[in-house]
Amino acid sequence: MSPPPSWPARNALDGRVAVVTGASSGIGAATARSLVAAGCCVALLGRRGDRLQAVADGTADPDRTLVVAADVSDGLDLADALDALHDRFGPADLVVAGAGVLTGAPFEDGVPAEWIEMIDVNLGGILRTAQTFARDLLATAETGRAADLFLIGALAGQVRFPGYAVYSAVEAAVAQLARALRAEYGRRGVRVHVVAPGLTDTDLGSEISHDGTARGWAEHRDAVVPMDPDDVARTVLFGAGLPPGVNLAELLVLPTRQDPHLPTRRGTGVR
Ligand SMILES: NC(=O)c1ccc[n+]([C@@H]2O[C@H](COP(=O)([O-])OP(=O)(O)OC[C@H]3O[C@@H](n4cnc5c(N)ncnc54)[C@H](OP(=O)(O)O)[C@@H]3O)[C@@H](O)[C@H]2O)c1
Repeated sequence: MSPPPSWPARNALDGRVAVVTGASSGIGAATARSLVAAGCCVALLGRRGDRLQAVADGTADPDRTLVVAADVSDGLDLADALDALHDRFGPADLVVAGAGVLTGAPFEDGVPAEWIEMIDVNLGGILRTAQTFARDLLATAETGRAADLFLIGALAGQVRFPGYAVYSAVEAAVAQLARALRAEYGRRGVRVHVVAPGLTDTDLGSEISHDGTARGWAEHRDAVVPMDPDDVARTVLFGAGLPPGVNLAELLVLPTRQDPHLPTRRGTGVR
């Protein structure tokens, strides 16, 4: 009898060409570091080039990184990133759309300009990123090799989260986008995954402009021991390391102490 498989298979990600948006911080940075450690060549995208460079320099092999300052709100930036990737490492076979922002407030106090920015980054950015690299993924899948598109969503897309109505709606849209793309691309061999984390210890939320909600976010972080972004990165590597015929499609990843059905209301200003 052969021994049971261990997952992900050793060297499963060796030599793959990955793109990670939001790689200057938090979950994206952790994912980029983990992918390099697993043997991938990785393009790190985000707006802050200095932060991207610091993350790249801290990876296991900076020679297998490419830093591209790019705003996911700008399709031309992404087109330039595609060209730079092709010049350096060739077509992408693993794309992690991880760029995102969080804003919240009691709905009546919400700032529409902040909503629009969040929609444009968290949903629009994922759409632009996915479309920019779609042909690379489809071409890879045609050869029978693994081709992966990971959308980083959020628990908030699945549960009620007072004070974060617009963020929740956007994240629900991301989950549904993953299902729709999976239906379209699964039959063509591309695995589309959505990873929906709960509270994770990153910079997310640092730009919340509503005082009560910013206080509530801090209280929420105190009440729930957040996950380490490396632990979310692990789930991406696990999904990508499975055999090409298996799609770990939807991953809800929670801190053990976070009860998704009891989001905190304290300090959000929501009555
Ligand atoms: N942390 C959590 O508790 C949590 C929970 C659920 C879901 N998530 C999701 O995880 C994703 C990553 O967030 P995080 O927690 O890692 O937060 P983070 O530490 O604040 O990282 C956000 C990343 O997104 C990038 N970004 C923001 N706007 C961008 C733009 N217009 N163009 C390109 N990059 C942009 C930032 O880079 P630059 O500023 O350099 O551009 C940064 O690298 C988000 O989609 C978030 O919704 C996080």
